[in-house]
Amino acid sequence: MSNGNMTLNLKIWRQVNAKTEGKFVDYKVDHVSEDMSFLEMIDVLNEQLVRKGDDAIAFDHDCREGICGMCSMMINGKAHGGFKGTTTCQVHMRLFKDGDTVVVEPWRSRAFPLIKDLTVDRSAFDTIQQAGGYITANTGNAQDANAILIPKPIADEAMDAAACIGCGACVASCPNGSGMLFMSAKVSQLALLPQGKAEAEKRVLEMVQTHDELGFGNCSNHAECEATCPKDISIEHIARTNREYIAAAIKHHEKDRSGGGA
Ligand code: FES
Repeated sequence: MSNGNMTLNLKIWRQVNAKTEGKFVDYKVDHVSEDMSFLEMIDVLNEQLVRKGDDAIAFDHDCREGICGMCSMMINGKAHGGFKGTTTCQVHMRLFKDGDTVVVEPWRSRAFPLIKDLTVDRSAFDTIQQAGGYITANTGNAQDANAILIPKPIADEAMDAAACIGCGACVASCPNGSGMLFMSAKVSQLALLPQGKAEAEKRVLEMVQTHDELGFGNCSNHAECEATCPKDISIEHIARTNREYIAAAIKHHEKDRSGGGA
């Protein structure tokens, strides 16, 4: 469609807060440029709403360049629209056609209570991260890069895990509402490196326990999380976390039985 002349029919979830009922509301947006991002298209709609004296649609955003993980929403039933390796802020309107109907909803998961419209409270992720605690690292001057040698494949894997931006697409896409992909990425990014090994057992035990207590479901290998993750985090991290968790739990159980404490 020619630039600036697309018209879209939007069905957007509106809900004042978690205590009120929500519903889809239909909006028509004219003059959508194919160069706009999805968030810019919502900005245009919000300007129209505010000019009419209506309440603007609440949605999360910050960096608008795929870094912060804030722009969480379901587009046509898929987290971030389901475009490979892409956050909502990086979705461009050229991916849609003139006259398309687009359904936009918030993440729906027990562990992410709704705040308003498309925004949800994802602070449960922060709680899991905090449960992981600190790493042992020397302070002072930076060490020589060759002081701790790390094989390239291991460094690559840790860096791939560290790419997780904590957007919550994994939770929103999982039929169990599991946060295992997020948590396992946070476990792997430290456990794979020598600096993270000192507290690895305690970290995995406490992160898994916190994950479960916060109402996230368990992983049953649907792999929807991996398919929709905008940073292409692999479910292999979940398998690694499970192995680490079992080994740490057995070790601590044996220590407890022999009176050694956890
Ligand atoms: S707004 Fe930061 S990742 Fe989309």
